[in-house]
Amino acid sequence: MSQSEKKPEISEKQVTSLQKGYQAILEFIDEMEQLSQFQDRIDIPSNINQIWEAFVDEIRKSINVDVCGLFMVDEDTHEFVLQNVSPHDKGSICKKEIDFQVECGTFSWIINRRQPALIPSLVFKNRKTIIMLPLSTAKRTLGIVFILTPIEESSITHKNLKLLKMLSRQCSLMMENALLYEKLKKEHENLKKAQARIIQAEKLASIGRLTSGASHEILNPLNIISGHIQLLLMDRGMSPSISRPLNIMQEQSERIAKIVKSLLQFSHYGKQEIGVINVNDLIEKVMSMVEYEVKHHGIQIVRELELNLPSIMGDDDKLSQVLFHLISNAKDAMLNGGMLKISTRALSGTNQLQGKPESIEIRFEDTGSGISEEEVDKIFDPFFTIEGAGNGPGLGLSICYGIIQDHGGTINVESKLNEGTAFFIHLPVAVESKP
Ligand SMILES: Nc1ncnc2c1ncn2[C@@H]1O[C@H](COP(=O)(O)OP(=O)(O)OP(=O)(O)O)[C@@H](O)[C@H]1O
Ligand SMILES: [Mg+2]
Repeated sequence: MSQSEKKPEISEKQVTSLQKGYQAILEFIDEMEQLSQFQDRIDIPSNINQIWEAFVDEIRKSINVDVCGLFMVDEDTHEFVLQNVSPHDKGSICKKEIDFQVECGTFSWIINRRQPALIPSLVFKNRKTIIMLPLSTAKRTLGIVFILTPIEESSITHKNLKLLKMLSRQCSLMMENALLYEKLKKEHENLKKAQARIIQAEKLASIGRLTSGASHEILNPLNIISGHIQLLLMDRGMSPSISRPLNIMQEQSERIAKIVKSLLQFSHYGKQEIGVINVNDLIEKVMSMVEYEVKHHGIQIVRELELNLPSIMGDDDKLSQVLFHLISNAKDAMLNGGMLKISTRALSGTNQLQGKPESIEIRFEDTGSGISEEEVDKIFDPFFTIEGAGNGPGLGLSICYGIIQDHGGTINVESKLNEGTAFFIHLPVAVESKP
């Protein structure tokens, strides 16, 4: 071998450090593989619980785990709430441990540090080790992961912690995306509901204008026809073959008049007698009239009327009509009995009046037949009726809608077929209202 081909000498030290470097690269590849496996298990969109389950599996691959708990920050109260725990029966002991750690100040120290921390358990027997993994993004803390391991603190390696930290970072990003997706979905649904309400209000307003004009045009000739029939019927010597059809004509004219008057009511016709109303008293008054009959149909009535409910301004008779109507519909929907719950509560606004009640809610919940998804959007439409329910012309709810709208309020419905229906009425409280 010539002088120029002579291989450079490698010292033993260099070999060891090359081996170490090689080992480190292999470990790094392993870690990356585990991270990508975790990522691959999560479909988009996933919810927090799906991400959590995949995360717990990855944790178990890296370290021996007894209990694993997820505490998420509640957006309203900013408190840490236990969202999930594995195994499921360890929830209360997990919460107890966290309460103790909060009391000692360890908890806030870990949150502020935003780094994994090893602490001795204060609650679990044999004083096992707890690994706390904060879940946070650049902007905020989402929660904290609680891992109870039988391994002694001194045996938990830097490598273990590094991998857990990488997994928790990945998990934080996925959870943040899942939360944003949920929020966006909710906002989209609210927007869709608001849009549907506007379309419904527009539709009813234009039907209202049309029916109000047409109803007056019908009532005038109808009164003339009815008057003439009555005159003819006064003839005592009339043969039954003539008086019978005349009586039928009279009956049917009265029926037409009743429907047309309902239509006028729907189109907000008629004077309102406005006064101060205590809705709880009004409900009691209406209930005292119908309770016997409703109970007779095997329907249990539950009242949850809020004490000191603020008063509203309104027309006593018209609002009673709404209550009667909702009760009558609920009764028709519970032909085999059931439960009707009537509740009231005051609602606070979100503007400068926050804290003071701005409106009241009257809620009617029944356990009746419910309404299908396709039909629920149409129930406030005039003449919409579902066969077999009641036998009316389908004007009741549209009249209720008009009355509540005239009071500056809203009426909404939520229903599930074969489970039940809930109507929510919101009415503004009277200015300077005293309960
Ligand atoms: N609580 C309820 N549970 C189930 N279905 C209901 C309930 N309330 C209303 N509905 C459905 O909505 C339809 C429309 O109700 P609405 O009160 O307007 O008309 P109606 O009761 O059929 O007739 P009318 O009230 O004019 O006598 C009803 O036919 C009924 O099927
Ligand atoms: Mg009805």
